[in-house]
Amino acid sequence: MNKAEFYLELQGQVLALIADEQDIIANMANISALLFDALEFVNWVGFYRVIDEQLVLGPFQGKVACIRIPLGKGVCGTAAKTGETQRIADVHQFSGHIACDVSSNAEIVVPVIVAGKVVAVFDIDSINLNRFDDQDQLGIETIVKHLEACMV
Ligand code: SME
Repeated sequence: MNKAEFYLELQGQVLALIADEQDIIANMANISALLFDALEFVNWVGFYRVIDEQLVLGPFQGKVACIRIPLGKGVCGTAAKTGETQRIADVHQFSGHIACDVSSNAEIVVPVIVAGKVVAVFDIDSINLNRFDDQDQLGIETIVKHLEACMV
């Protein structure tokens, strides 16, 4: 199975999990669990929600993580502030990166946007440098779009 096929199948599994459920925490929890199992070389998969101008830790899989991140700080805070996906090949080169797990080397953070506002971010960390390419980004952004569709 190539990467495009892999993400198509994964997106189908995500849709099957969340399509009939409106509870955002339940959907975030199942997406985290599914992707933590399905993706290779990942050590943290989860969400931070925007609450009172801060990111607050949400459902995740992986080691315990920092609970609150100010908007604009770290990779997650940058994604939340700019509303743009942050794909970082080497987190050690990202000024302000917040190291929750020392074994993380690469990271992708996709903002969750509902009605034009960033309501959360979806964060995936990898032990492999340069783990995420264009296809991973597209595949993960599409999964986030499915989640956004359940939140309107
Ligand atoms: N590395 C992130 C913090 C969250 S953890 O990776 C789970 C950042 O720099 O925002």
